[in-house]
Amino acid sequence: MKITVKSFQKFKDEGRKITMLTAYDYSMAKLVTSAGVDSILVGDSLGMVMQGQSSTLPVTIDEVIYHTKMVVRGNKNALIVGDMPFLSYHISAEDAVRNAGRLVKEGGAEAVKMEGGSNIINQVKAVIDAQIPVVGHLGLTPQSVNAFGGFKVQGRDEENAKRILEDALLLEKAGVFAITLEGIPEPLAKEISEKLTIPTIGIGAGKYCDGQVLVINDMLGMFNDFVPKFVKRYADLNTIITDAVQNYIQEVQNGNFPAEEHTYK
Ligand code: KIV
Repeated sequence: MKITVKSFQKFKDEGRKITMLTAYDYSMAKLVTSAGVDSILVGDSLGMVMQGQSSTLPVTIDEVIYHTKMVVRGNKNALIVGDMPFLSYHISAEDAVRNAGRLVKEGGAEAVKMEGGSNIINQVKAVIDAQIPVVGHLGLTPQSVNAFGGFKVQGRDEENAKRILEDALLLEKAGVFAITLEGIPEPLAKEISEKLTIPTIGIGAGKYCDGQVLVINDMLGMFNDFVPKFVKRYADLNTIITDAVQNYIQEVQNGNFPAEEHTYK
């Protein structure tokens, strides 16, 4: 069954948890959609796990479009969300609509994700008015890394927690169909999830969110530069890939590869 923005609301109403994973290319998208994930996020995390940058800030809208195209080709039923990178929606509502529109029109995304609350509310409304579904993103929003002074858990103090809750309510009122809650204490995520009628998708926000999202390279154990506390490694592909490559090198060097069955006669 094709997952749409309407499915997200239905899942929350039924108390069925929503699953989201990132993917950045055709092969990985094909694997995760075939495994049955509800949604694929073409995250600007691609800047870190695909490009090796130290933050998501350098990622451009053209790069997200490029990766979204590949993911769409591999997708079957998942809802494809394209991430709006830094500076693609901060300057004006017009800019936001143009760039979100490009993600849909050129990339094939079915929805976009935007980081922020009251500071970007006009842009969020403009994108929704253009009939493009929006996922909000609050808490440890990685595009604010410099303003936060690092990748730090947000909403620990009362004032900050209140602001995140108010932003969540504001985004819901503006018409976003879901909100990603990243790097906030579990009790705050629980309160937000209970107060909102739309679903919350958590990453480092505890178990009470209406769904969860992880960066695919983190959960498969392919990205070792740093491993945040909230990441669970469901596989150790680092070891599997390293072993396979070493095996290949050895077999080429000792003449065991290619064998008869890999050879045209
Ligand atoms: O870019 C991304 O992958 C994200 C997730 C971490 C939510 O925004």
